[in-house]
Amino acid sequence: MRRFLIAGNWKMNTTRQSAVGLAGELAAVAAGTEAGVEILVAPPYPYLIPVAEKLNGSAVQLGAQDVYFEAPGAFTGEVAVEMLADCGCGYVILGHSERRHVMGETDEIVNRKTRAAISGGLRVVLCVGELLSERQAGQTEEVLDRQMQGGLAGVSETDAVELVIAYEPVWAIGTGVTATPEQAESAHEHLRNWLATRYTPAFSQKVRILYGGSVKADNAESLLSQTNVDGALVGGASLKSSTFVPIIEAARKLRTTV
Ligand code: 13P
Repeated sequence: MRRFLIAGNWKMNTTRQSAVGLAGELAAVAAGTEAGVEILVAPPYPYLIPVAEKLNGSAVQLGAQDVYFEAPGAFTGEVAVEMLADCGCGYVILGHSERRHVMGETDEIVNRKTRAAISGGLRVVLCVGELLSERQAGQTEEVLDRQMQGGLAGVSETDAVELVIAYEPVWAIGTGVTATPEQAESAHEHLRNWLATRYTPAFSQKVRILYGGSVKADNAESLLSQTNVDGALVGGASLKSSTFVPIIEAARKLRTTV
């Protein structure tokens, strides 16, 4: 059985004080986490180090929200893979819809970042997802295929051993509109089939596919109950332990009752 990953993408939120406070609360919660549930937080860059210090020794994993693909050098404003590793990051979120649609990242850029992160030893959470207009035009699977193909170009099965995929329909992000469990499962199953074809069926069974888009305490259990949903990438509800911890609890409950 795949281990759930419940990840908090803090986006451009928190202050140093609130970030460290939240990290401390989650570290305490994680102490009781069942082996079947992994917890990850991705704070803004400036708070990585204080959050890492707070999480030190706890079961909560640390990740960044982006990275640049070049080795350290003259790239003003960018952050290199080895810097993230140096700050204690084990994960990096790549290809988030806000990076794609607000910052204009292409599949090629996402791919360069993915390959750089993997070769630098970071675990990648690769985000894919369709726009509302694309879903309405019946293009969801075509968009997912294109983003998977582009993002994972040149990535071998050995490279992808720690890969995590996050299906985040853009129309569900920050809108309060969540994909139904059936819509999520259908997209996740499609993504797993894509992985089975591109790599091998055995490999596809090992990859965790997270759902993201308005995940809250009251919809987490129904989403996480789906066969191919292996966790959640949570935005707004990850900013307070009072809203994030119940999502962790929903995952724990499912892993202890099966
Ligand atoms: P919300 O949970 O705020 O919809 O954000 C989802 C997301 O984009 C996580 O990466």
